[in-house]
Amino acid sequence: MPYPKVTIVGAGQVGATAALTLLTRDIADVVLIDVAEGMAQGKALDLMHARSVLRFGPTVTGTNDYAQTAGSDVVVVTAGLPRKPGMTRDHLITVNSGIVASVIGAAVAASPDAVFLCVTNPLDVMTNFAWRLSQLPADRVLGMGGLLDSTRFAYLIAEATGAAVADVEALVMGAHGDAMVPIPRLSTVRGRPLTEMLPEAEVAEIVRRTVAGGAEVVALLKTGSAFYAPGACVASMVGAIVSDSGATMPSCVLLEGEYGISGVHMSVPARLGRGGVLKVVELDLTPPERDALRDSASQIREQLAALEAALA
Ligand code: APR
Repeated sequence: MPYPKVTIVGAGQVGATAALTLLTRDIADVVLIDVAEGMAQGKALDLMHARSVLRFGPTVTGTNDYAQTAGSDVVVVTAGLPRKPGMTRDHLITVNSGIVASVIGAAVAASPDAVFLCVTNPLDVMTNFAWRLSQLPADRVLGMGGLLDSTRFAYLIAEATGAAVADVEALVMGAHGDAMVPIPRLSTVRGRPLTEMLPEAEVAEIVRRTVAGGAEVVALLKTGSAFYAPGACVASMVGAIVSDSGATMPSCVLLEGEYGISGVHMSVPARLGRGGVLKVVELDLTPPERDALRDSASQIREQLAALEAALA
């Protein structure tokens, strides 16, 4: 059986880390593509040099030409600038929308049947923009944000409770940014809600650090933003899509009335498979949780309006 074909646009930190994980987990053949001459080719060659010691089956090639991405099952878009210290994801909006616009036309023309996974920040706005530009059905254009926020939340829950990380289920919904909505009530350790395990102040501190997680990494690195956890989350979502697993993961998807929200891409639990988003899962939220999610959607709407204004 041939491996599925996954194109990663942007052979930078996130793109290359996602590629390494897809290869070492034997998930897919990878095509790395970048505007920078030699960047994708160099990373691909370096990864292939690791093949005989890591013993992975799939292959990776690097290119600057979309013809080589033709017929991909999944296209991951990581092309764009990462955040610099002190910079919010919103500051990236103008420059990264130009990059996403230049990528989507060529990538969709080469792989009209692919599922598109957007990673470029500001994530929710870029996913919405990519979907509109692609003219594809909404279930085939999604974004990676909520899974990253949830895995950061899970890490902090494991640290605070002393539990094995494998025993933690953590859920963050909403915008990928300061307006994200961690849901402690539905985050559990061996089935026990976090809200029953730790005092309110400790839960609040874990939530605060979850929201600040990306910025904490940016501040430490001083150049660039997080890439190991983002790369792992990309590979996990791509794995669910190409294996048609139907696994439920927090994914940035178009909401069309779910949770009382419409016309906005934001992270909610969704079942992933060959067709992309198989089903948007609507959880039973408390009124304050629903309100927080609606506030989060309002902030994304403001960013969408900022993008419209920048494009006008
Ligand atoms: N087409 C293809 N590749 C491009 C384009 C383009 N039009 N424009 C830029 N790139 C490439 C750059 O040459 C670079 O190799 O995108 C890559 C981005 O890599 P990094 O600068 O290392 O950024 P990274 O940390 O991978 O983050 C990428 O993901 O998490 C988000 O906020 C982050 O938006 C950023 C994106």
